[in-house]
Amino acid sequence: MSTTAIRPGSNALALDELVQQDRVHRRVYTDPDIFALEMDRVFAANWVYLLHLSEIPGIDDFKQVWIGTRNFVVSRKGDNKVTVFANRCSHRAATVCREPGGTASTFTCPYHGWKYDSRGQLFGVPGKTAYGKTFKARDMHLARPAQVAIYKGLVFATLNDKAPGLEEHLGHAKRFIDDWLNHQGGHENLCVAGAQRFKLKCNWKLVYDNAGDAYHVPFSHQSLLKMTNDRYGGGDMSYFAAADRSNMKMYDLGNGHTLIDQRPDMHKDSAWNQQRPQPGREAFEAHVRNTNKPEIVSAVLDSAVGAGMNLNIFPNLLFIGNQIQVLQPVSANDVLVHWYATQRADADDDMQSMRMRTQEDFPIMGEMDDASNFEECQRGMETSPDDEWIDISRHFETGKDEEEAPGLIANPVTSELHVRAYFNKWRALMSVQPILNVEKTKL
Ligand code: FES
Ligand SMILES: [Fe+2]
Repeated sequence: MSTTAIRPGSNALALDELVQQDRVHRRVYTDPDIFALEMDRVFAANWVYLLHLSEIPGIDDFKQVWIGTRNFVVSRKGDNKVTVFANRCSHRAATVCREPGGTASTFTCPYHGWKYDSRGQLFGVPGKTAYGKTFKARDMHLARPAQVAIYKGLVFATLNDKAPGLEEHLGHAKRFIDDWLNHQGGHENLCVAGAQRFKLKCNWKLVYDNAGDAYHVPFSHQSLLKMTNDRYGGGDMSYFAAADRSNMKMYDLGNGHTLIDQRPDMHKDSAWNQQRPQPGREAFEAHVRNTNKPEIVSAVLDSAVGAGMNLNIFPNLLFIGNQIQVLQPVSANDVLVHWYATQRADADDDMQSMRMRTQEDFPIMGEMDDASNFEECQRGMETSPDDEWIDISRHFETGKDEEEAPGLIANPVTSELHVRAYFNKWRALMSVQPILNVEKTKL
């Protein structure tokens, strides 16, 4: 292993040594200098998910968001009109917005009172006459990222004006995002609700790794599976026991995006019947049978349960079941995970309640299993620096790659193809020194 120094801004990364086809060096998860480069090259220079429009439904609704460690605000002006601006005063850099979200037609910096409108445009400077003549000509509006784009209500941004269009970036993943949105009754029917938030002592990539990991399920979640099996004879996730012989598949969708498709098993007969028991289940089923035509009962019941996908959109967006996870890296060994529940605009109270019971089920019981492993992987990497490599070779040499379409590769579901695939994109992004742009001109 090379001991090449890692310096922010330098291309002397020895990336081919740190990230190989079937193994990754521990420093990729532990080195603060690599983390600092990732914030520029993997996050700021790449498309990053910010929020869904349903989180800011009204005029002047806003929410704080993050592009890696860069803090922005998204504010809404109309149907599909959003403005994204940095949460950083043009005067002396104080954060202008101190609330996580809300409704505001103006933002006043608490330090010296500079005033910005809800699109981040400066319109008031106390004691303005004390500034010289050139002040007027300066661009002092809040800084906007180079590109903002929306795909079916999902808002993304990048500071890289050379980044390819959002739809090109999403590529094969678009089709599966569409499937996921259709499970919610279409993108205009989706309401992203509140979040459970986890602050974890681990690198952000350990969370990304796990969302595409079907190998760990019968081991990490053994107690959950055993309880369900002992008490109720199986249910959701029991097919993971012999996962590679199941009908599920792992997909490399290109550009670091990946999918575990559970639907061939989970939705094979009835997704509803395969769920673990939940409070209110019997009453809900009776309610659905009483209020719907018989031919649509099973579809309505199935829409209360998960979408049967773990769909990872690199680098920070994870669709898991009916939920949306957003990763907010904080440092090389700290990450905030925002786990959003979703609702359907067309659903009655009984349906919303049942969807919530489903969405509470795994995060409450299963996320703790995962979170503890993320933190223990980080601890292992940090406390045994002499054992340098993370193995990602599962199904690398078994010849199971199937190209279902150009650039769309399927594998047995427990494959570590997922990790290899996103590290290919990671390495490509990390090997380019990007030019990052923000815009402070008048809109
Ligand atoms: S830092 Fe915002 S007004 Fe001075
Ligand atoms: Fe898990």
